[in-house]
Amino acid sequence: MANIVIVGTQWGDEGKGKIVDLLAEFADLVVRFQGGNNAGHTMVVAGKQFISHLVPSGILQNKTCLIGNGVVVDPAVLIGELDNLSKHGVDVGPDKLKISEKAHIIMPYHKKIDLAREAMKGDKKIGTTGRGIGPCYEDKASRRGLRFIELLDPEVFREKVTANLEEKNFYLQHFFAAEALDPQSIIDQYQGYAERLGPHVTNISVLINNAVKQGRQVLFEGAQGTHLDIDHGTYPYVTSSNTVAGNACCGAGVGPKEITEIIGIVKAYTTRVGRGPFPTELFDETGDRLQAKGVEFGATTGRRRRCGWLDMVMLRNSIRLNSLTGLVITKLDVLDGLPALNICTGYEYDGQVIHDFPADLKVLEGCKPVYETLPGWSEDIIKIRNFEDLPQNTKHYLNRIAELTEIPIYIISVGPAREETIVLKNPFV
Ligand code: GDP
Ligand code: IMO
Ligand code: MG
Repeated sequence: MANIVIVGTQWGDEGKGKIVDLLAEFADLVVRFQGGNNAGHTMVVAGKQFISHLVPSGILQNKTCLIGNGVVVDPAVLIGELDNLSKHGVDVGPDKLKISEKAHIIMPYHKKIDLAREAMKGDKKIGTTGRGIGPCYEDKASRRGLRFIELLDPEVFREKVTANLEEKNFYLQHFFAAEALDPQSIIDQYQGYAERLGPHVTNISVLINNAVKQGRQVLFEGAQGTHLDIDHGTYPYVTSSNTVAGNACCGAGVGPKEITEIIGIVKAYTTRVGRGPFPTELFDETGDRLQAKGVEFGATTGRRRRCGWLDMVMLRNSIRLNSLTGLVITKLDVLDGLPALNICTGYEYDGQVIHDFPADLKVLEGCKPVYETLPGWSEDIIKIRNFEDLPQNTKHYLNRIAELTEIPIYIISVGPAREETIVLKNPFV
């Protein structure tokens, strides 16, 4: 029996969706535990691409998918996803997709505040996805949030929305010179969401823990990446939730003892959307080539992703922060044809080489990557399904990653499709 947490090790978009979809075949439950529709998780199955923002990436494997209490849910986006999946013949009924009664709800004022703040900050903006994620988590922490429990109680919902809007409208009008929002139209709109989503709402902690007791296997799907974590990432250029594996427990309602494996998804190079420091970022034609061959555009906002070399300082940070037990290397095919590959093994700062990811952004911004250069390969690897068949230099690159991290590589992804994968060890079997 295995209960596995999957997390991103970099700044998101490592290919978590593809790997969760792949491993979901062996799981009984697939659970999202943090983030919201700032996430964009891509699955390519039978030639069709699906991008999931809220629905866990186990849905195409016909598994029971749970949205945990740690997730912030925009009901309109979730309903849109459910409609799209059901149009494609995927079962997303209340037995297949369940939402924690304690999950917080993104409200129109959260989106409005997110966008207004970013616009006001100008070139000091964070580069958020504008989906209201930060303001929703703020309300959760300040105890003004609305959860599904409240949504399903019309009286309580009306009372809380009305009270919240007194404060939010003052803020919107007087600080941002924006228009006020009308409580009644929000209440009416959200009443419709309550009717539609009500049958999906339940106590998912009980459900997961019962499943675990019965020896069923659970896959926890992280969103974003370790370096976007609110505590451990490149603050303030981070998201508003804990993205590390420890939060799988808080965000789903299970104890840490139940987790048996923690797998880190590592893109074979590094990307970042939004702003913030990025020591191995490339501003040359190699960066452009990674961006073009890797089709590095955000799955949520369509923004061009910044690209750079693989960074071991970051990866080691992720290994420690998440207790990673295994790695998945994705997008290895994107490196095909590059004459040489760099791996950053440390940062040079103030005449010294440092190996621990700095917390001070001024230090991080001044860090120069120290590179180890490895030979590239000219072959296309997308069709390869066995490690032995990979070009010698590809094996060398992978072996060097395993050596530097001291963590075994479980899976290698050589293309976007589910089957474009080399499985060295399946953690579920
Ligand atoms: P996530 O947010 O971690 O789930 O990742 P995204 O879906 O945002 O971004 C990953 C992108 O890379 C998607 O377009 C995937 O279809 C694609 N992808 C995943 N694995 C591979 C791979 O091994 N090779 C290539 N070429 N593309 C991949
Ligand atoms: P997945 O799950 C990449 C980034 C945004 C911005 C910062 C804060 O697909 O890997 P937010 O809207 O969360 O307040 O934005 O975090 N960001 C992501 N970058 N992948 C994601 O998710 C992201 N979710 C948020 O670009 O820099
Ligand atoms: Mg993504």
